[in-house]
Amino acid sequence: MLILGLQGSPRKKGNTNFLLSSFLKAAEHRGAVTNAVQVVERNILPCKEYVVCEKKGYCPIDDDMASEIYGLLRQAEVVVLASPIFFYNMTSQLKALVDRCQTFWARKYRLKLSDPLKATRRGYLLSVGATQGKNLFEGLQLTAKYFFDAIDARYEGSLVYRGIEGSKDLAQHPTVQEEIEQAVAALVTPFASRKKVLFLCRQNAGRSQMAGAFAQHLAAERLDVATGGSQPADKLNPDMVSAMAEKKIDLAFRTPQGIEAALANGRPDAIVTMGCGDECPAVPGALHQEWDVPDPSGQSVEGMRQVRDEIESRVKQLIPLLCG
Ligand SMILES: Cc1cc2nc3c(=O)[nH]c(=O)nc-3n(C[C@H](O)[C@H](O)[C@H](O)COP(=O)(O)O)c2cc1C
Repeated sequence: MLILGLQGSPRKKGNTNFLLSSFLKAAEHRGAVTNAVQVVERNILPCKEYVVCEKKGYCPIDDDMASEIYGLLRQAEVVVLASPIFFYNMTSQLKALVDRCQTFWARKYRLKLSDPLKATRRGYLLSVGATQGKNLFEGLQLTAKYFFDAIDARYEGSLVYRGIEGSKDLAQHPTVQEEIEQAVAALVTPFASRKKVLFLCRQNAGRSQMAGAFAQHLAAERLDVATGGSQPADKLNPDMVSAMAEKKIDLAFRTPQGIEAALANGRPDAIVTMGCGDECPAVPGALHQEWDVPDPSGQSVEGMRQVRDEIESRVKQLIPLLCG
């Protein structure tokens, strides 16, 4: 599972970064793969309200949202939003990222598409502020709640600290480490016992992507799903993305990856291969199925639909085998 941390403070050696990195370290000890993005170091322009996303489902601004952040937000099973309080909300750098997620809001509410990880993804909030007021985190919590809804993450909880001002204040807090441990255990433990399944084909642009998306969509949080290809393509097959969108399943922002990257998810309990022959590895002890499903690339739209439906029905048969 990937836990994505979004670090919103301009102070890299400050309290928020300490809180987020301690949180992610605790998650790594429990087997998670983590990625912390220093939002301040990224080129993220504020939303310009072009409204293209509301009609077409993508943002025309070509910056690090397009090249990195949208993809990571789709890949992550847990998204941790971390910010100091600036005027009773998050920092403006992080708010720019949040506003640009209007693209996800539009895909969900205007285009009625469904992210395959929708039922699985969790959102968590970390924050610090200098003062002691009862309402200190209310503005941030409200923004975070609607951000998590837009990115299809269930708001799981928060760790927030008052009276934190000097850059090393939080590191000296008497209970912070213990509270992080408890929060991470509660967040990660339900994911730990899931069976892992790996879908492989040659380019990871069509068949294995469809199988992975159906498995995530249908098994939801019961399965840990990865996909890969022996010769990964540069991008997904757009006809495949359209065919999945006909089923209301949203594969935008996903990218093909190699087998090694797919195996970084951990040793799979089951591998399904489709047409990659000896190029795909055998994992001793794992259940192995070879699915005789034709390569849909270059086929007609109808051909793509047939492959999609064949894969969906095979995934439906596989899920009870793995999840009981
Ligand atoms: C521009 C700015 C606005 C701030 N606004 C608030 C505020 O509204 N309430 C508050 O309690 N602290 C406020 N603070 C204090 C920070 O939240 C506090 O110093 C925090 O520990 C900084 O975290 P960091 O070390 O992760 O950057 C503000 C600080 C700055 C620089």
